Amino acid sequence: MQGRVLAMENGTEPSQRTQSRAFPLGTLKILISLVVLSVGLLILSFYMTRYFYLQPITVLRSSSSFNPWFGEQSDLSRWITPPSTLMHNMSDEELFWRASFVPEIKQCPYKRVPKVAFMFLTRGPLPLHPLWEKFFEGHKGRYSIYVHSLPDYHPDFPPNSVFYRRQIPSQVVMWGDRSICDAERRLLANALLDLSNERFVLLSESCIPIYGFSIIYQYLVKSRYSFVGSFDDPRPFGRGRYRPDMAPEVNITQWRKGPQWFEVDRKLAIDIIKDTKYYAKFKEFCKPPCYMDEHYIPTMFTVESPDLIANRSVTWVDWSRGGSHPATFGKGDINEAFLKRITEDQKCLHNNQPSSICFLFARKFSPSTLEPLLQFAPSLFGLDQ
Ligand SMILES: *[C@@H]1O[C@H](CO)[C@@H](O)[C@H](O)[C@H]1NC(C)=O
Ligand SMILES: *[C@@H]1O[C@H](CO)[C@@H](O)[C@H](O)[C@H]1NC(C)=O
Ligand SMILES: *[C@@H]1O[C@H](CO)[C@@H](O)[C@H](O)[C@H]1NC(C)=O
Repeated sequence: MQGRVLAMENGTEPSQRTQSRAFPLGTLKILISLVVLSVGLLILSFYMTRYFYLQPITVLRSSSSFNPWFGEQSDLSRWITPPSTLMHNMSDEELFWRASFVPEIKQCPYKRVPKVAFMFLTRGPLPLHPLWEKFFEGHKGRYSIYVHSLPDYHPDFPPNSVFYRRQIPSQVVMWGDRSICDAERRLLANALLDLSNERFVLLSESCIPIYGFSIIYQYLVKSRYSFVGSFDDPRPFGRGRYRPDMAPEVNITQWRKGPQWFEVDRKLAIDIIKDTKYYAKFKEFCKPPCYMDEHYIPTMFTVESPDLIANRSVTWVDWSRGGSHPATFGKGDINEAFLKRITEDQKCLHNNQPSSICFLFARKFSPSTLEPLLQFAPSLFGLDQ
């Protein structure tokens, strides 16, 4: 700057003006070469732009189609929109880590409609799905569905089904084995990826709903407690399965048993997938005749969060026939009187207040029950409300 000011003061400008008048032909030459140079620069910059600017955009596009829920939106929807597809290539380790993210600010900056995640742990087909389709009809936006089936099973639900593309990446499950707890954790982790999911209920292919959607939704969403069955069973099938090696994490007085079919809120769902402390002990010391799916979750919450669980399940099952397995119902069992009996005379506490609704679901219904269930259940249970 200073140099230029000095040059002007020395009278450089007037002398240049005299030069241009004296050599017009030279100026023309200079002008032509300037034009040629700038055209050359223009062409060069066009290619440079293509290379440095367009290139990254194409790369971005292809990466966002690979990972659709981390798209290019720059607003909040980037973080709160659930994955558009349930299929992914994450390992359990990667998935659990990703699913364990928790916002520290409890006040939501957007209107969040809590959803109930219905998580089906199945071997393969869902024979009672027509009943469930009726149950979910008209309640879009308040539920989401996740299905874990054996990996070689490929369902063919039509696009208008609520189960269409709701399968999560699954792995082999051996009943009575730790792999069943791994599958439950996998269902929870996949469901946690949708931030709207607030309650998480585990179901099997033999479960049916015994109330309409709205009643079940309100019952769960408004509950202060999670419905994890948990009791201290002094018999060999209970305390008899405890191993002193599980101390100090778990001692005999904290050892619990409960049905596998839990219902938990978001906090406890995250506690289950992030746990390594109890999981490691159970993995090592709870082997048949100890069944991890009957002890792990009830025991862990009895130690860690006893005030957050209702100590009862919301899934009804019939043990009245005796034996080590609950009754499985067939076509011949299903009539109006039988179904009425399931919901009658229930008494329990909901948020510490007496309630006539204890169970929301029932099992175990064989595939043959579908026809009579479709005949009686919708009006009896108000499934179409
Ligand atoms: C998972 O990986 C395979 C092979 O690496 C690929 O073909 C497939 O498209 C990927 N799936 C998803 C959902 O990204
Ligand atoms: C088990 O742990 C609880 C809580 O820490 C404690 O109160 C109780 O005395 C322990 N019982 C035994 C048998 O160690
Ligand atoms: C469930 O049982 C635990 C003891 O194991 C108790 O502390 C808790 O209050 C019980 N929950 C309810 C809702 O009664």
